[in-house]
Amino acid sequence: MIRRDFLKTGIAAGAAMTISGTIPKTSAATQIESYNREGQSPSQIAQDEAFWKRVRRDFGPAPDFVNLEYGYFCPATLATLEEEIAGGREINSRASFYMRRTRTQDLEDTRTELAKLAGTSPEELCITRNTTESLNTIIQGIDMDPGDEIVYSNQDYGSMVQAMKQKAKRFGVVLKEVSIPLHPKSDEEIVAVFENAITNKTKLLHVTHMINLTGHVLPVRKICDMAHAREVEVVLDSAHAFSHIDFKISELNCDYLGTSLHKWTCSPVGLGLLYVKKEKIPKVWGLMGDVIRPEDDIRKLERIGTRPYNHMRGLRNAIRYHDAIGSKTKQERLRYLNTYWTQHFRNHDRVYINTPVDPNRHGAIANVGIRGVEPQKIAEFFYNKYSILTVGISGHSIVKGVRVTPGLPTSLRHLHLFIEAVEDAANTL
Ligand SMILES: Cc1ncc(COP(=O)(O)O)c(C=O)c1O
Repeated sequence: MIRRDFLKTGIAAGAAMTISGTIPKTSAATQIESYNREGQSPSQIAQDEAFWKRVRRDFGPAPDFVNLEYGYFCPATLATLEEEIAGGREINSRASFYMRRTRTQDLEDTRTELAKLAGTSPEELCITRNTTESLNTIIQGIDMDPGDEIVYSNQDYGSMVQAMKQKAKRFGVVLKEVSIPLHPKSDEEIVAVFENAITNKTKLLHVTHMINLTGHVLPVRKICDMAHAREVEVVLDSAHAFSHIDFKISELNCDYLGTSLHKWTCSPVGLGLLYVKKEKIPKVWGLMGDVIRPEDDIRKLERIGTRPYNHMRGLRNAIRYHDAIGSKTKQERLRYLNTYWTQHFRNHDRVYINTPVDPNRHGAIANVGIRGVEPQKIAEFFYNKYSILTVGISGHSIVKGVRVTPGLPTSLRHLHLFIEAVEDAANTL
């Protein structure tokens, strides 16, 4: 069969791709796209339950339990999931044809769309698998001499602390741990905590943008400005802040940032982002070796081999959904859900909240405890009696409480049930 006849047969049989291999940019409809929000401000939409009911339908959560643990990962919308699956089918049918002729463009198109969301140049962004990979690339990839110091906090995420401890063991780097107050009086108090630990040996601050245990958002711009004035670089763990708090990376003045897109960007599971300021790229060694690309090409840090590229198509759909809600509206909704239930317990006899009250210092995540009761026991009570999923944090030196994370699909009905569950636990346990 000559090539033209072969193509005709393929097209007649409904081939989904053009001969260049480009995947069509189709996408399932979502409930919110037709919802009229004209004239409403982000904070008004944040409280428009009819709108959030549609959002909930877009996610289609399982009805047999109440999920208040969206902090582990946020599911993708059903439309994003469909895109991911459709992409998987097409790539599977095209196999090496996709890998050899389409993959690179697909990745670059996704990088460009992600850069718009993140507020950076695409030349400063890698698409990784998660925050752990992104931040290890920086922590392991920057040369340091024995005696050089890294400052980090007692509320940083465990895997990042392990990464720094390995660096210390392997290269003689010295780690300095600072303690973040749970209820700071001002931004300056937090900045001072980091600044007081800096010496002339300090090379890097590792700062968690939104602390996973409590939801506390740190004043990262002020920390970065202070650190740069002391000639110290900053790597931000933005696993929870990205696509949750309304910001662009370019506004933060950090040197490096990592996040997981399967958290608040609602991408398919297994996607992350690494940002490296353009002029810093040459000094970072990749976790996977690559010396063929120019030293200042961000792609040298992305050489992870064959991966599920259908995730890219899911990610582009997730970005579209994020934009359809709007960054500011999403932030306002997530803060509103937090305040909606925590305000009942701010002055309670037995119940305490480990999350700052100021809305600028939190998003959706909060942490609650009952005096004298092990957090694990409280979380079990919520699940066994109310089918509410949360996570008890018992082993931490400072934070003792249950992490509670509503998400975009959470309804006020769920929060009413949760308030009842906390009151019941305080009276029963
Ligand atoms: C603050 C923080 N950093 C890093 C991570 C690691 O994320 P991942 O497992 O997606 O790499 C998490 C996960 O919950 C986190 O909360």
